[in-house]
Formats: sequence, C-alpha cells, structure tokens
Amino acid sequence: MSRIAFVNGRYLPYAQAAVHIEDRGYQFADGVYEVCEVRGGQLIDERRHMERLARSLRELRISLPMPLPVLGIILRETIERNRVRDGIVYLQVTRGVAKRDHAFPVPETKPSVVAIARSKDRAKGETTAAAGIPVITVPENRWDRVDIKSIGLLPNVLVRQEAREKGAGEAWFVDRDGFVTEGSSSNAWIVTRDKKIITRPADHGILRGITRTVVLDVAKKLGHTIEERPFTVEEALAASEAFVTAATQIVMPVVQIDGKPIGNGHPGLVATSLRAHFYEAAEIAE
Ligand code: PDD
Repeated sequence: MSRIAFVNGRYLPYAQAAVHIEDRGYQFADGVYEVCEVRGGQLIDERRHMERLARSLRELRISLPMPLPVLGIILRETIERNRVRDGIVYLQVTRGVAKRDHAFPVPETKPSVVAIARSKDRAKGETTAAAGIPVITVPENRWDRVDIKSIGLLPNVLVRQEAREKGAGEAWFVDRDGFVTEGSSSNAWIVTRDKKIITRPADHGILRGITRTVVLDVAKKLGHTIEERPFTVEEALAASEAFVTAATQIVMPVVQIDGKPIGNGHPGLVATSLRAHFYEAAEIAE
C-alpha cells in the first residue's frame, strides 16, 4: 500500500507529496509541529495537542491555518488513508511560501500544512520498555523558547545522534547549574529513594509535554507524592528510578545515565505502573 500525505489541502501519494523550495519551514525552520499517538485507530490526547499547536503558532505569530476541529478531521483522514491502527500522526504548520527574507512575509501568505501518519509495532515498544533505555547527558545549548514546539531541532538532532553512537536511547540536556532540563524529544523524570516523583516545572526551559501532563494526573490518581522542581544529574544518579515521557514512548524507563546504572539497573516499579495506567487518564478520541 502506498503511503499518503496531506499537503496543503490535498491527499497525495508520497512520491508526489512535496512543498515548495521557498517554504519558510525549509529555509528558516519557521514553523511548528505536533506528534500525536494513535492507538487502536484512535487519537490520544488530541485536544491538548491541538491547543498546544495553537499556542506555538500564536507565540510565533503564524496564523492558525484552519479551525482546530478541521485539523482534527485532517489527522483522522490521514490516519485512515494510511490504515494506521497503532502509530503516530505528525502535523506540521509553517509560515508558508515566500521569497527568502528573514522578516515575515506579507500577512496574506498562507501557512503550509502537512500531515503524515505512520504505523508502529506496539509489541516492539513494550519490549523496549521492559528492558529500559540508557541515556547520556549533554550541555543545554538550545534557545530559551523551547516551550514552543518549533521544527528548529538541530541541537536535538545532534545530541540524539550522539546518544545513538554511544548506544543510548535518549540524551538529557543539562543546564549551566547542573540541572536536567529535558530529553531531545522527551521530558525527564526521577523517583527518589523515598519514593517522590520529581520532574522539572514546565514554566521555563522545557516543552510542556502532553504526556507529562497526563502522567502527572496518573501519578496523583495512584497516590504518589509529586514534586515539580529541577533535579541535578547527581540526584538522578542516586535516584531509585528514572524515566522519560513523550507521545512516541508514553512512559519509558531509564536504566542507565552516562553508563551508570539507576536503582537496580532495571525498569522501576513506579515507571512501569505509570506506563500501565496511562490510558486511564489520557483523553481518547471517539
Ligand atoms: N517530541 N520535550 C521535547 C523537546 C520534545 O520534542 C517532546 C516530544 C517532549 C514530550 O512532549 P509530548 O509528551 O507532548 O510528546 C518533550 C515529539 C514526540 C517528537 O519530536 O517526536
């Protein structure tokens, strides 16, 4: 089956799915994106992802290309046309096509909208979660508007490659004061020896992950003590558990940081239970 992409109003086979070479996403990374999980053919946490998309666009003064419910219809259609039961749908909106000039183009410029959907093997994700992943730490070198889900991801790309070359599954950015900010495409968490769940507040220095928000709800429901505060690499190394969250991984246990084992070196009970209970708190579309 050939894959189909939504590109600026049309559903096209991949071979014909293209944007203009003067798209500002291509020239300036002048755009934003969202990744939603698809599970059993249903969108997970669509409302929150769409609201964050609208916020990212507002922050960059890119106009919303269409009402959010219409974007939701496009996501569903893209999922269906690609027969995705379990996987992800990716939505990208850029400031559109214009003659190259750093400043904004004329206000009539239409944002470009692209959506693609891809199947993922659910069992493979479970196998990875059962083993847990190693992470490496890297110096934070991103701009200070990482709260915007921008397609400008070069620092994230470089550290993720570094992680891969070192046999790790994720890289954690560490700020100048030694505090972990977040992963290259996930939020970072630890569980202390006295069973407190710690994650950095989403007011500065990180993306407010949708999975993060839902996991906070799950943790509260399960009666855990939560502290939203920064944590250092040293504290993470002394923790009993660590994990990351993202729409692509839900809750993924971390078993090593920079080659040193966390806790007993295996996925922790808290992370495993948060993963198991995630869909009780997530919003699952009809
Ligand atoms: N990334 N932090 C960063 C830098 C991210 O890129 C992501 C998600 C997250 C987690 O956000 P959420 O829980 O809403 O997925 C945190 C997506 C999955 C990606 O780039 O593929």
